[in-house]
Amino acid sequence: MASTLYPPAAVARYNGVARTLHWAIALAILFNLFTGIFGESFEDVWASMPSHKATGLLILVLSIARIGWRLLWKRPDYPAGFSAFQRKVAAATHGTFYLLMLILPVTGWIFSSAGKYPLSFYGLFAIPKLPFTKGMAIVDAAHETHELLGYGFAALVVLHIAAAVYHQWVLKDGTLQRML
Ligand code: HEM
Ligand code: HEM
Repeated sequence: MASTLYPPAAVARYNGVARTLHWAIALAILFNLFTGIFGESFEDVWASMPSHKATGLLILVLSIARIGWRLLWKRPDYPAGFSAFQRKVAAATHGTFYLLMLILPVTGWIFSSAGKYPLSFYGLFAIPKLPFTKGMAIVDAAHETHELLGYGFAALVVLHIAAAVYHQWVLKDGTLQRML
């Protein structure tokens, strides 16, 4: 049964490392979705692509750490009131997120390696280019995958935030507290 107390008295939370990584990566991904989708429209004022690329590679490193952590630690159990359907949708969405958090940066890295611009981590140090050059089939495939899955990612983030809002203000089951 979902708790009728609000906020629920005892909510099992994700541990500190999981929470810190969740919010750091969430911010970075929102930044990359924004600059990826809208960057071209304000290019004259701010050329955001170098930051998009550096942030994307930061997301890759943080995501590997996060997935490693997630495999080492058990997620806190869902509240008893969660239906089998809710559990399935949550598991499918979260699993897809982890995949996208790896595929988006890797495809970006592949096709940007074939581009003319050097890759730099916010001007601090050079990021090595992967051995791919213009005209290779994998470069075009990576580019198309990046665009297509980029929009898919944005749609899934909207769904995820809608779910968080629904749990917080409609179901009032303390789900958001698990990640705070
Ligand atoms: C999780 C990380 C990332 C996300 C969520 C993301 C998302 C996006 C999105 C939504 C677009 C717009 C697609 C379009 O309208 O064409 C885009 C474009 C782009 N991304 Fe990423 N990206 C990520 C990582 C990277 C990385 C690591 C690189 C390169 C090192 C990169 C390089 C680019 C480039 C060059 C474009 C412009 C492509 C074009 O206009 O043809 N991205 N990205
Ligand atoms: C924008 C990019 C975001 C990504 C990629 C993302 C990804 C994820 C993933 C993969 C999980 C599952 C954790 C696990 O069990 O391993 C998760 C959980 C969660 N996220 Fe996000 N998240 C994002 C943004 C947000 C935002 C903006 C909110 C709140 C408004 C939010 C609220 C939550 C909550 C409450 C949970 C815990 C769900 C549970 O108890 O199982 N997330 N997120």
